Amino acid sequence: MREINLGAGRPDPLSFPSDALAEAAAKVISSRGAELVNYPDGRGYEPLRTIASERYKRGTGRAVPLEEIVLTSGSMQALQLITDAFASPGDTIVTESFSYGGSLSVFRSRQVRIAPTPIDDHGLVTDELETVLKRLVDAGTPPKFIYTIPTHHNPTGSILPLDRRERLLELAREFDTLVVDDHCYGDIVFQTEPVPPNLYHLDEDGRVVYVGSFSKILGPGVRQGYFMAPEALQQRIMANKMDGGTNALASMIVAEYFGEHLWDHIREVNAVMKARKDAVVESLATHFSALGEDVWWTDPPGGMFVWVRIPAATDTRKVHQTATSRGVYYTPGQGFSATGEDVPYLRIAYGFPTIEDIRQGIPILAECVKEAQGKELAA
Ligand SMILES: Cc1ncc(COP(=O)(O)O)c(C=O)c1O
Repeated sequence: MREINLGAGRPDPLSFPSDALAEAAAKVISSRGAELVNYPDGRGYEPLRTIASERYKRGTGRAVPLEEIVLTSGSMQALQLITDAFASPGDTIVTESFSYGGSLSVFRSRQVRIAPTPIDDHGLVTDELETVLKRLVDAGTPPKFIYTIPTHHNPTGSILPLDRRERLLELAREFDTLVVDDHCYGDIVFQTEPVPPNLYHLDEDGRVVYVGSFSKILGPGVRQGYFMAPEALQQRIMANKMDGGTNALASMIVAEYFGEHLWDHIREVNAVMKARKDAVVESLATHFSALGEDVWWTDPPGGMFVWVRIPAATDTRKVHQTATSRGVYYTPGQGFSATGEDVPYLRIAYGFPTIEDIRQGIPILAECVKEAQGKELAA
């Protein structure tokens, strides 16, 4: 059976620059390999931090001082360190009502209470955020931080508009809490209008931590991520980083390659990604439209995912079981639900599958959704 993976938030294996990375590895090992007898610098290999700073500059016009940037083993390690630094078991944090499942798992494993905040087509609804913050403060459980994915949200792909970004920061100030801006998909962008600056850039009083990654533009296997934080916050986050440093060999290779190819590579990745996103949206229009009136999906301006609403009466477990038995993998909406409840949504990831996979997989998925109708009757 041919397997079709519409579940993995990974880039296209065919765009992975194996030959160029092999060349970069040979060059950097012969020129700098002996440095690897040392433990890495506490903040990580400086040339890769320089690249992180240049990436940031493209969106904001400002290079971040290298002392503010710390390399981590994927951005996942950064998220874990940030959570451990600022939230203890029993504490509360705020997230979007749908959010990245990996982050939700980090928060849950820390036994942190999650206060979900409604989102719409443009991301976090800041009026609702104000209500949630007031409720938490009144209950004596002020949040330790607000975790948000304002740019190319996972799973919805939305971009938070500038006025909401500013309002979010105002609320963080008013309620004296921190903000974690997960910018993992920042450079996977299809829309031609500029994306509003990230929260770290807009912040004026040192309460934002920015999380970045090389996973989505290169591959999660390299495990190169980072965070940016002002000195005071950085010290607290670093206090838990006791891993001997972030893999300097991987950092050297990635820095050598991206030193020359960063924007060419990103352009190439985005072209592939956009063609696949278009194929998903086109295929959904053909095969999902007839499934019900309450069915809709996003046409994301960037990122790696299309978020699909399926009929409310769908037996979501059955969809997943049948799709899996037919070799089609996707992520059920429940994995993104901040409350953990079953929801009539599914997420299609388009970075990894080919266009042919997409065109074959989506009709199968539509059949599985159709066969799983009438949840109430079955229950
Ligand atoms: C929003 C978000 N943040 C962080 C990560 C973790 O990425 P990595 O640890 O590979 O950098 C992911 C991975 O899917 C993600 O979607």
